[in-house]
Amino acid sequence: MLKESSREKFTPWNIGVFNMEWEKTILITGGAGFIGSHLVRLFVNKYQDYRIINLDKLTYAGNLSNLIDLEGSERYFFLKEDICDAERIRSIFGDYDVTDVIHLAAESHVDRSIEGPMEFVMTNVVGTVNLLQCAKDKWGGEKDHVFHHVSTDEVYGSLGTEGLFEETTSYDPRSPYSASKASSDYFVRAFYHTYGLPIKISNCSNNYGSHQFPEKLIPLMINNIVNQKPLPIYGKGENIRDWLWVEDHASAIDEIFHKGCIGDSYNVGGLNEWTNIELVKYLCKIMDIKLGREVGSSERLITYVQDRAGHDLRYAIDASKLERELGWKPSLKFEEGLEKTVDWYLQNSEWIDQVTSGEYKAYYDKMYGAK
Ligand code: NAD
Ligand code: DAU
Repeated sequence: MLKESSREKFTPWNIGVFNMEWEKTILITGGAGFIGSHLVRLFVNKYQDYRIINLDKLTYAGNLSNLIDLEGSERYFFLKEDICDAERIRSIFGDYDVTDVIHLAAESHVDRSIEGPMEFVMTNVVGTVNLLQCAKDKWGGEKDHVFHHVSTDEVYGSLGTEGLFEETTSYDPRSPYSASKASSDYFVRAFYHTYGLPIKISNCSNNYGSHQFPEKLIPLMINNIVNQKPLPIYGKGENIRDWLWVEDHASAIDEIFHKGCIGDSYNVGGLNEWTNIELVKYLCKIMDIKLGREVGSSERLITYVQDRAGHDLRYAIDASKLERELGWKPSLKFEEGLEKTVDWYLQNSEWIDQVTSGEYKAYYDKMYGAK
């Protein structure tokens, strides 16, 4: 069951808190999602003088129980809003005197974008332009603000067996998801060049870790291994992804937000390439050991299925600019991170049940109103 929480704790109209002086009021969009929740937690715990507003529509992918530990913090506020709602977003910028934005809210799953691209156009493109407009109107020409747009390496398209994506690599998006993200990146850059909006963009590779919705490869496979269900591998499983621990992504955003150059893009990646089939076999092995099953038994669940339409072969990031200029590099070895991830899912089977059954969604719709 979800822990009961008081609505007061999330509401903005706590007068004492509302009147405090804050060094920054950062609007983090998509903070109830996978990466957003790790970022919100990092910022609330690390920066005592910031007020963090988590603005999230709570789609199927957003879950406030991801941030239950922050309830009661006077520096953390939650607003259930849609970034496409121009009137509401404009008044939030004014009411809260928003000084900075870190924008993560998005439709994020490639397979869903193939099934239905329009939601991706609405949230990822229209929603982003709406936020940009509101930031521009609120901040005027002032430069002491940051609009940090969190984007993906998928905007660069697909690599062959050689080479890495650099910040200067031409955009070549190939799925409706990556086309919508590339389009949003272009709008973010356009607001910098045309209106002087102080923007930064980060383009990151595949993240993994706790609280990821079990439609993405790693949590889906973990869940299916636990339940001894088939493990669907698209095509031959030879596609390659570069995996990064989600908390390392959050720390990279922290560095870029605070120290990156206005107008610049930064690639974030793990230098950690795995074919899907290698990764899933490795996961099977460690989970057989953890679950006390005969080693090799989970591998037998692997089922090759029809390939994803337009499946990008390989993503791999050159993150040397981020290391050279800001001193960031991944902190965790993949094997260690994967084991921590498996442990988290094994210890939080209730979370999977809640997010897949929609139990949490019904609960928060009741608290905040369905949108
Ligand atoms: P996610 O799907 O887990 O979370 C997205 C969040 O956005 C959810 O909480 C959802 O409720 C919210 N949201 C969706 N539509 C909204 C709307 N119209 N208004 C307000 N909130 C809305 O996504 P994620 O994996 O955490 O990704 C976060 C961001 O990082 C996305 O912009 C994504 O493109 C980018 N990114 C993700 C990865 C990855 O591997 N997951 C890698 C690189 C970049
Ligand atoms: O590269 C960054 C991107 O990584 C992010 O921008 C996206 O938001 C995020 O979803 C992720 O996109 P991918 O398509 O790479 O992630 P996904 O987990 O969906 O798939 C990873 C790989 O595994 C991909 O090659 C497809 C394959 N796959 C996926 C699923 C869900 C399978 O073979 N079987 C599956 O069931």
